[in-house]
Amino acid sequence: MSSQKLASRVKDLHPSAIRELLKHSKMEGVISLGGGIPNPQLFDTEGLQIALDRVMSSDVNEAFQYGISEGIPALREAICGIVADRSIHCSADSVLITSGSQQSLDILARALINPGDVIVVERPTYLAALQVFQLAEASLESVSTDGEGMNVDELEALVQRQRIKAVYIVPTFGNPGGVTLSEPRRKQLVELSKRHDFLIIEDDPYSEINFSNTQFKTLRGYAEECDNLDNVIYTSTFSKILAPGARVGWLIVPDWLKQAVVNLKQATDLHTSTLSQSLTLHYLQTGRLPAQLELIRASYKEKCDVLCHELEKELGDRLSFHRPLGGMFLWATFKEEFDTTLWLSKTLEHGVVYVPGEFFYCSEPNRSTLRLSYASVSNEGLREAVARLKAALP
Ligand SMILES: Cc1ncc(COP(=O)(O)O)c(C=O)c1O
Repeated sequence: MSSQKLASRVKDLHPSAIRELLKHSKMEGVISLGGGIPNPQLFDTEGLQIALDRVMSSDVNEAFQYGISEGIPALREAICGIVADRSIHCSADSVLITSGSQQSLDILARALINPGDVIVVERPTYLAALQVFQLAEASLESVSTDGEGMNVDELEALVQRQRIKAVYIVPTFGNPGGVTLSEPRRKQLVELSKRHDFLIIEDDPYSEINFSNTQFKTLRGYAEECDNLDNVIYTSTFSKILAPGARVGWLIVPDWLKQAVVNLKQATDLHTSTLSQSLTLHYLQTGRLPAQLELIRASYKEKCDVLCHELEKELGDRLSFHRPLGGMFLWATFKEEFDTTLWLSKTLEHGVVYVPGEFFYCSEPNRSTLRLSYASVSNEGLREAVARLKAALP
């Protein structure tokens, strides 16, 4: 069999369970709370057109030519401005452009993980990060989360028992958990990393989608305060605030890691599409991003409010959840023993789908959980979706 020729680490790599399960979600009449994609109706098509015109009129040489692996310098400079509002003070030199955060994670995994190295993730965690770490043959451990995000006391107990290489965390408006690490726990986590000398990979695609005026300081920001910059790596992306199809994200890395990341980036794809980078840069220069963010925040907040209200009213006796403070996801748990993977075929009959929670665990999944995304469904659609979920209950 030719498949025996596959590398052993690839043999265990399965297609995303979510994609398989949600194949049906495009069926006529089905309301999908499953997809994790931004609402395309909110794309700033006018702004993107202006940016594209400017690329074509003033930047053709750079946008259609090979570029340097670190990324276009002016874009790296612009990103320093964006992250300054996220309590990160860095020079363009430490910003490296990637083809989205997913690539950031892949490059980091290859740069940092030797087979068997222990990587600690949240319970639940971002599914595609699990895939990347498994491909790198990491040994995965997980720590529980509650309404204040990762339980850092539990992590502390773990690091006292065994040596770990890194913690991977989505601390702000997380995917899939929809929870946000509290300020005391942020500080505690960064101090713990300093004391026990492990890395923190901070994945931050959602912090701009904030439903309130409360700002959460990034872990990278805390690292500046407590002199732990060598241990904290930050990645973010334009996917959720501009357009995921552009595939532009970035890494902010400590000096000791920079050359290795650049070497890996070269070996992977030479550089991120110069056309996409140039488009993104020109978009930022239009000055339209702040208004665009306002639009996304207001729309997702309203949808989140509708979903929370309907869930409480219609299913509050069966389901519990933490109200998201931002982002795109709500994580719910049945109060009784329940298998949400089995339930999916039933809800599909009623014309509504979600993502069963079990896929977001590296081991011992809690099968009574589910992830609901409100970002791309109309308010009316959300009300109807909850009614259908209720009708599908056993
Ligand atoms: C937590 C998390 N990290 C990374 C990504 C990948 O984002 P990008 O489109 O920048 O590759 C996603 C996308 O859904 C995500 O939710």
